[in-house]
Amino acid sequence: MKVLIVGSGGREHAIAASVAKSPKVDKIFCAPGNAGIGQIAECVPIGAMEFDKLTAFAKEQAVDFTIIGMDDPLVGGIVDAFEAEGLKVFGPRKNAAILEGSKAFSKDLMKKYQIPTAAYENFDDAKQALAYLEQANFPIVLKADGLALGKGVLICHTLEEAKKGVQSIMLDKQFGTAGNRMVIEEFMTGREVSVLSFVDGKTIKTMTSAQDHKRAMDGDQGLNTGGMGTFSPSPFYTQEVDDFCKKYIYQATVDAMAAEGRPFQGIIFFGLMLTSNGPKVLEYNARFGDPEAQVVLPRMKNDIIEVMEACVEGTLDQVDLQFEDNAAVCVVLASDGYPVKYEKGMEIKGLEQFEGKEGYYCFHAGTKLDETGRFVTNGGRVLGITAKGATLKEARANAYQAAEWVTFDNKYMRHDIGKAIDEV
Ligand code: AMP
Ligand code: GLY
Repeated sequence: MKVLIVGSGGREHAIAASVAKSPKVDKIFCAPGNAGIGQIAECVPIGAMEFDKLTAFAKEQAVDFTIIGMDDPLVGGIVDAFEAEGLKVFGPRKNAAILEGSKAFSKDLMKKYQIPTAAYENFDDAKQALAYLEQANFPIVLKADGLALGKGVLICHTLEEAKKGVQSIMLDKQFGTAGNRMVIEEFMTGREVSVLSFVDGKTIKTMTSAQDHKRAMDGDQGLNTGGMGTFSPSPFYTQEVDDFCKKYIYQATVDAMAAEGRPFQGIIFFGLMLTSNGPKVLEYNARFGDPEAQVVLPRMKNDIIEVMEACVEGTLDQVDLQFEDNAAVCVVLASDGYPVKYEKGMEIKGLEQFEGKEGYYCFHAGTKLDETGRFVTNGGRVLGITAKGATLKEARANAYQAAEWVTFDNKYMRHDIGKAIDEV
């Protein structure tokens, strides 16, 4: 069959690598893709938001199955656009992708269906938000309602700071229309864990757990990024935590969406915080995490196409989802200055070192081929270096060793990805 993947990051490279292992697949397209994806798929220069061009391309090439990797097109209704043309597509429809697209929606859903999350209030008026802050406890968390490249969350320690936050989100529109509404919620403490799941509208199958490192610098310092590295599984995601989430969070979310007339088919990403009062939902995403996908997918034993087809067909209950009994660590190689200002166009050397090395992966995020056919940097996050190991410690040592195989000017990485596992 022919498969089209929509997106261009490390996550889409990891998805493409899994799809390439499926015996059912003989051709992969990726729109728009990147230089690494181009080694296993044919990249087509169509943007992820160009729905008409994408559906026309899928029809013209007789694509059998399309996988949407990114949040923006999902929230914008790309799945509805494909379905309207009779094309088979993996991902939630617009009315279900709102689970990620509106934080106010997801908070109201959790409240209505008693799914554990931080206490909150929604606001669509800045004056009311400011008045509410006067009697609030600090720290407090401000969230722009809509998509904001993972940057729309402000943790404010004082009233002064929070007032400035409301000003920048709702009045100065720092995150554009994402800030037309906002959520103000209770600050929680605890360890964070990401759990991704496959969902077919009624049945949910969770994948192995992972932990991201969102801050730019070692010791969780610096600005929030898209993610600087991940490990999987999380040793803090115990059987007890899993039992709790199965009972109160996972199926409850899927049932709530169905009850609202918004059946969810695709990936639900549960961002959880393990608080002293039990696990609570920090956020939902409607797609694989990036770079969570880079540690979770290499450990998945199933044929990804079979699982995704089961989600679309409503037969996920018949799938036995299995993961390897090992560990994986992903270290992101970024351009120095990310997430603010960084240079592009630096030649990347050493990529050939990954050839034929079992258990090592070099997922491309921001890369392209220049006019002379060299791999050059083309984004803030450049590569995701993933390695497996029998244990988390072994996987981490392997990933950091492999991170040295590749060089480019201004290469930057965190050196403490997975440090938390030493505490176990
Ligand atoms: P989100 O995009 O909603 O996951 O938020 C980004 C990050 O902000 C999370 O990964 C947490 O580290 C932090 N965060 C979000 N909500 C809260 C909260 N209620 N309490 C404490 N930290 C939070
Ligand atoms: N790594 C976090 C995310 O994909 O949203």
